[in-house]
Amino acid sequence: MSLIIQTAWNFIWKDGEGFMDERKSSKVTTALKVAALPASAYLIITGAGLNVQAEEITPTISDTPVIVEETQENKDIDMTQSDQESAPVVEIDAGITTATLSEEMMTDQTILDAMEDQKPSETEYLNDSSLDSGSEEEKEDSITEGTETGSKVETGKTETTDKSENVDTSEIDGVETSAKQPLENEQSTESSNLDAVQADEGTEAIEVAVEPETEDEEYRLQYHFSNEQGWSNDPNGMVYYNGQWHLFFQYYPDGVNHGMMSWGHAVSDDLIHWTELGISDTFNAALYENGFRWHFSGSAVWDINNTSGFFNDSDNGGLVAIWTIAGMPSGGSFSQRQAIAYSTDGIHWTEPDLGIERVYIDGDGNPTEMTEVQKDYYKNVILGDYHVARVIHNDDGSVTYVNDDPLSSNDFRDPKVFWHEDSQQWIMVVAGGPLRIYSSPDLIHWSPEAMQDEITTECPELYYLPVQGTNEYKYVLSEGGRWYQIGDFEQVDGVWTFVPEVGADGTPARYEMNYAPDAYAAQSFNDMVNHRVVMVQWMSNWSYADNTTVNGETLEGIRKVLGEEHNGQFTLFSELSLVQTPDGLRLQQKPVAEYDSIKNAVFEFKDVTLDEDTDILDDFNSQQFQMEVEFEPEKGTDEVVIEVLKNTEYETTITYNVQTQTLTVDRSNSMDPEKAPADHEQNGTWFKFLYPYSAKVPMEDGKVKLNIFVDNYSIEVYANNYTTVLTELVFPDKDATAMDIYAIGTPVKANIKFATMDSYREANTDMRDLSGTMQTVYDILSKGNKGYTNTSFAELQDTYNKALGLVFSGDANDQTVVLANSALKKALSDLMFEGTGTPNQDISADEGIGTADTGMNVTNTSVQTGQIAQTSVQSEGTVDTAVNSGVVGGLFGSLLSLFGFTMLFKRRRD
Ligand code: FRU
Repeated sequence: MSLIIQTAWNFIWKDGEGFMDERKSSKVTTALKVAALPASAYLIITGAGLNVQAEEITPTISDTPVIVEETQENKDIDMTQSDQESAPVVEIDAGITTATLSEEMMTDQTILDAMEDQKPSETEYLNDSSLDSGSEEEKEDSITEGTETGSKVETGKTETTDKSENVDTSEIDGVETSAKQPLENEQSTESSNLDAVQADEGTEAIEVAVEPETEDEEYRLQYHFSNEQGWSNDPNGMVYYNGQWHLFFQYYPDGVNHGMMSWGHAVSDDLIHWTELGISDTFNAALYENGFRWHFSGSAVWDINNTSGFFNDSDNGGLVAIWTIAGMPSGGSFSQRQAIAYSTDGIHWTEPDLGIERVYIDGDGNPTEMTEVQKDYYKNVILGDYHVARVIHNDDGSVTYVNDDPLSSNDFRDPKVFWHEDSQQWIMVVAGGPLRIYSSPDLIHWSPEAMQDEITTECPELYYLPVQGTNEYKYVLSEGGRWYQIGDFEQVDGVWTFVPEVGADGTPARYEMNYAPDAYAAQSFNDMVNHRVVMVQWMSNWSYADNTTVNGETLEGIRKVLGEEHNGQFTLFSELSLVQTPDGLRLQQKPVAEYDSIKNAVFEFKDVTLDEDTDILDDFNSQQFQMEVEFEPEKGTDEVVIEVLKNTEYETTITYNVQTQTLTVDRSNSMDPEKAPADHEQNGTWFKFLYPYSAKVPMEDGKVKLNIFVDNYSIEVYANNYTTVLTELVFPDKDATAMDIYAIGTPVKANIKFATMDSYREANTDMRDLSGTMQTVYDILSKGNKGYTNTSFAELQDTYNKALGLVFSGDANDQTVVLANSALKKALSDLMFEGTGTPNQDISADEGIGTADTGMNVTNTSVQTGQIAQTSVQSEGTVDTAVNSGVVGGLFGSLLSLFGFTMLFKRRRD
């Protein structure tokens, strides 16, 4: 199967290869702004006049949640409403191997016209029969190794998976000497040139952050990473290095379509706050003038022991990226090959000249010399495509040509490299088409291991994962984040091979990694330090991420709703491990604990009864939250339903059908159908955006536990102890902020924990964005005056939650924010002087604590439960009466009224 996509930019995509009709210079938008301050810093600065740096935050707010015991009696159940049918289960593979290349597309005059400015080679590409996998005969000719007699290559034996037949050790040694020498030279030049490089105008841009978009955007995720502008797809080059997480990604900054690919780059200290950097020259497709050079997916490692020799040993190694270059040097053939570059900061990269001699091999097996431009193009290629061969000069004067890809497929991409402790060497899994495995001692010289063409996937990855509750580890093969297989990685017939566990039918057991369509191209960080396996996925689907041409008709994808500025976003980062389930071992994908640090107001409802009229969430309004729901269905319970992103017309529903034990995340009524991406048929399969997606979720001890993350236009639902995940993009109306939870049939008991989630994207402008505040305050207080008790701190925390309540109130305005801020300052001030020691100088009352900015003083100094609701506000200025009576007054009533907040995240979407 193959796929061609023609986009508005006349990018032609076939089987993962493609080209543009237009070369655009890269538009690196930058600004001098570095990372947005973590929100925690803000409160301290504005709220308490302190000048502190953000510190690592651990969750504390959720330690003392407000707990509401359900007191309502069970209501009568209307059984007539219990016969809703469970949504049908559908499976849509997010892979791109879904549509057939139509003849019309290949010859479409508009495409060809659009390409008229292009080099002839591009048109050749369209007609190039070598793009097809080719006949067996063709393959044999071009993929075999031969011995040269005169200028003609006589084909020898077809390459097999036996590495001893493919790899000439003397050649490796030969390359090693010739390759290492220039590298060492290069290294010294590189280090001495580094300062100069950094000062160079062309590279300056990449050292500064890409400014986060601050204008109101119709859709923008707030606690998920997304590139600020342009298009992104697969995560790449993920590596933990010198205390920072580096995330690269497939990136086309000049349009919201898949275009000529560069690597975007973002860094984070905590997996939450991301700073987007510019594109490094090495990964910038727009800078290449001598043909095409797109940077497809690949990985990066921290070569901590300097196995590559690229670094000074004393320096603790550095970063090495291995990725796919797709395209062609002028006059060369279009193909995919694996390249290498190294860096000591993740920003400035050097492409080493490995000194490997290569020639083109034509269809008859004849070698053709490369031009200087072509040689330069291949200088840092570690594994060439089958159109080229490495030249080995044998002792007897003969020449052997070696094809680096024993499977000789045009689809040879997405290398993921990792350190294999057992064999003390690097391992690469690479596919795009069939799966190949290679090994290397130094990241430069690679030997073929198993060639497992029974597995076809893009973006393969082998995770080495602990089995929870044991000392065991197992390997998991990810097939592009859509499917996974559990197994071992061992030598079979002398080559390292992934050996999957088999199911009852004796065939390899494959499991779904995500039961909904918007998670693809998973990659995890290479983390040599913490040994965490933290994975992220592109949160989209090739079926509608870009516009699609089907039978000559352009069907609009999600660009239709996302607009023309930005199209690309990533899932939550999740930590991987294996857990035992009643069905056997399964992959657990648990959002990283770091997300707890951006939980804001946390509300917990314990042991509440859900029936058809439950109104617990009636006053909650948010598009940016996390909700844990645990319920225990009764015999007569039909469904438990959670509605989110809801207004009077639309909602996204999460339904648990008790009878079928099926969980469905249904976006079929989540938005105006007119605005939804078009349904279309590809290869007999219908792709529908507005559709329900389901997974089996057996009850455990009679209970169901769900963890739901909603972030503006995404929803991720975790179930079955995080072994079942459903990830969906949804495009709700601006006012679709309401939510509901209820049960149909016999009522059920439930525990619900709700937390608002902060945004990492902007410096705070008011309290609505505070995150991790309490931990920061606590840390500061503990470091200064030792007199504070946990109880007094808890009281402060309580005040904080209530202050937030004011701020999130539906009637909140600037005055409310000031008021709440003042209350918090006052509480902080009280807490400071309550201690027995000397107040910390850094947080002295002189710095404005206790005095409201607008002249309002909060006079009630005691900080007890519900106190802020009763706080009297003495106005020396004008206090908005709506605030006074509507919000503060409204909170007077009872503890329950604390839950009457309407949490509107105004900043983002007003
Ligand atoms: C997967 C993929 C990869 C390729 C990249 C191109 O989404 O097709 O195979 O390297 O995207 O952008």
